[in-house]
Amino acid sequence: MNHKWMSQLPLLLAVIVSGSANAAIKIQDWGKGPEAEQAKLITLESSSLRVQLTNYGARIVSVEAPDKTGKRADVVLGHANLQQYIDDPKDYFGAIVGRYGNRIAKGTFSIDGQTYHVPPNNNGNALHGGPDGFSRKMWSVITGTDSAEFTLISPDGDMGFPGMLAVHVRYSLHGNRLDIEYSAQTTKTTVVNLTNHAYFNLAGEASGDVLQQRLRLDANRYTPVGDTLIPEGNLPEVAGTPFDFRKLTAIGERIGADDTQLKRAGGYDHNWVLNGRLGLLHEAAFAEERVSGRTLIVLTTEPGVQFYSGNFLNGSVTGYSGLAYQQHAGFCLETQHFPDSPNHPSFPSTLLKPGETFRSHTALIFGVSNGAR
Ligand code: GAL
Repeated sequence: MNHKWMSQLPLLLAVIVSGSANAAIKIQDWGKGPEAEQAKLITLESSSLRVQLTNYGARIVSVEAPDKTGKRADVVLGHANLQQYIDDPKDYFGAIVGRYGNRIAKGTFSIDGQTYHVPPNNNGNALHGGPDGFSRKMWSVITGTDSAEFTLISPDGDMGFPGMLAVHVRYSLHGNRLDIEYSAQTTKTTVVNLTNHAYFNLAGEASGDVLQQRLRLDANRYTPVGDTLIPEGNLPEVAGTPFDFRKLTAIGERIGADDTQLKRAGGYDHNWVLNGRLGLLHEAAFAEERVSGRTLIVLTTEPGVQFYSGNFLNGSVTGYSGLAYQQHAGFCLETQHFPDSPNHPSFPSTLLKPGETFRSHTALIFGVSNGAR
């Protein structure tokens, strides 16, 4: 039985189990949020994966995936209970981040000549929607037999963003594939950039660092950053740099290289410009851990992916199994539009107008390999 589940046994007020041949779903009460809103813990189970979600931040709590011998481990980082998620505003474990995932320089941008300010929460910049972003909201949820759809109404002026934004995020599980589909509509022209902030460790949560795990990114270019991790605006080639992940490479192989970009971020914390066509679901990333054989394929319709190597984890936060997460205990692959796009007209636009529907789709496929790939 999962530890997170067990630790909340006294709080279980309702358990609903339904199922189909392919998947089953279970919904439990999971405590109360800061304003006494009801949190839920939702378990989706297929023949190969067991995925837990919560409406606090519309987040992934755990993903239990088999290794090459069939032994399961939770391959995402997370906390033991709701209160620990509430008490951790800086790690965004498994959360949906928005209204603007990633950074907006100085939290300031303009639309149609009007300037808007999001309260800065990261070195003078707005990160992941500001201090009270979507990751800290209790979303509403409806469930199907193999899916959970989370909805959030972000009011006009929420964290300084214009327009009321209605956001839907739907997770659905089919076999070894977890799809995440996003949509949003606004009442005034605004900016939107939504992503999921899961940290992966394919050897298992709290198994140590991910430096030996190997990664491939389908990207020829990336967006270098300045001192506060805001893109400088250029899109140089990755060729000949430690940012070249076009061939499967261990995350730790070049992370300590004498490179200004790596030093600024304390490792990898950059946006790669994906080669696939914007709006078409394409493979952005592939990762593998050779001992367990576990693999992860990330497909997305987004133009970029922020590969973050867990640089700011420093042992101060404890994961659900009670062990501290040290630096590089997990890696994130945040499929997204580029950071600070509202201030870079040359980047793909993040503007959303009334009458339009924002759509984005990312799929996570958890497999096992014999190392041949
Ligand atoms: C990432 C961001 C990192 C760090 C992390 C959360 O998306 O790029 O700099 O803030 O979130 O700790």
